[in-house]
Amino acid sequence: MTAQTQHNRPTSAAELLDQLNTETPKLHVWIRTQANSPAQRPWFADAGGASGMGDLAKGRVAANQMAMAAHRWRWSDIKPYLDKIGEIARAADVKPLETTDRQGILLTNPGLGGRLQITNTTRAAIAIYNPGDVAPAHIHSPNASRTILSEKGGYTNVEGERCDCHRGDIVFTPNGTWHDHGNEDTAPMIWIDVLDWPLMEYLNCVWVDQEYRDPKGGNSKSQSVVHADGHSTRLYGNGGLKPVFGSNQRGWGHDMSPMFHFRGADVRAALHALRGEAGDPYEGIKMQFVNPITGKSIYPTLEYSAQLIRPGEELRFKRETSGMFGVVLEGKGFSEIGGQRFEWEKNDIMAFPNFAWRRHVNTGSTDAVIYTVSDSALLKNIGQYRAQGRGADGSITQIVQ
Ligand SMILES: [Fe+2]
Repeated sequence: MTAQTQHNRPTSAAELLDQLNTETPKLHVWIRTQANSPAQRPWFADAGGASGMGDLAKGRVAANQMAMAAHRWRWSDIKPYLDKIGEIARAADVKPLETTDRQGILLTNPGLGGRLQITNTTRAAIAIYNPGDVAPAHIHSPNASRTILSEKGGYTNVEGERCDCHRGDIVFTPNGTWHDHGNEDTAPMIWIDVLDWPLMEYLNCVWVDQEYRDPKGGNSKSQSVVHADGHSTRLYGNGGLKPVFGSNQRGWGHDMSPMFHFRGADVRAALHALRGEAGDPYEGIKMQFVNPITGKSIYPTLEYSAQLIRPGEELRFKRETSGMFGVVLEGKGFSEIGGQRFEWEKNDIMAFPNFAWRRHVNTGSTDAVIYTVSDSALLKNIGQYRAQGRGADGSITQIVQ
């Protein structure tokens, strides 16, 4: 036997198995050469390293593993591109861009390999509507929402309910509700589209219908207004009071919120009214948007919240099994996320990965308000939600276990 063949001879069972694996792809199988290594160390049993996120799996068992990363998108970087695409659309008189139905910028989390996702389960797109733009009525299985960044100007029609939009509003379009959008103002309008689309995509359960059929027989691509602006608020916006007439069922799903439109001014007033409370050491004065009929999250998949952090307030470190992102509605400060520090100000957007330690600090002289979207709702529904807090001395508190 020559030295060369000795060198090439497999020396371990693992190498022999790997050699077999060169033949097996055509059979669509893989012969195990690696333990089913956990994606993370048992994060709830130790501090999970500096980031809190533990280690990713390696090798074949980690193929196609998806783990979002901590990130911040600065509004000052994004806004010029919104202006440019708005200008291009206006110059071309495209209403909206023919190839896309609307103009927008999708946020791509740097941990997710270029996928059109901001977290493992959600998509976020910043949309701009020029005066006169109309997005035709359509319906889909992913749940969606719009968080309004412009002072005013846009509208969404959800199942015939006209929702006139102002800054800080959130308009929800649950699974299976017809909706169309537009801008009848004289200035461009900007909002953030949020969808659980990637989750539905993973489940191979994305359905879209863009062929709106006007029940009155017309051929408009927009829905007629059946309920005037404010309908949701009149029906469901009276904290603790719910109507006992009519159906609360909306769309295709079950237990979807029939309250489509939450007004930013109301959210701000509710937060402000509670500013004298102690609040939560990890979250400050935080309120959750809920389905007013069930008291549960707006969607079975996503939990939407708004939190007020008072001037100088330093929140404590917390981590959750869920993934989340947030947009800064007011104020300035910084967040530490997974061992990185991100300064933020108005309209900046941040991604908070699953398991990552994070905390917020308001460094400004005015209130900070952050809206967040988390898949904690889904994880709670499937028994996978846990949360921990960390003290200044490094001690761990089990918040939800
Ligand atoms: Fe939509």
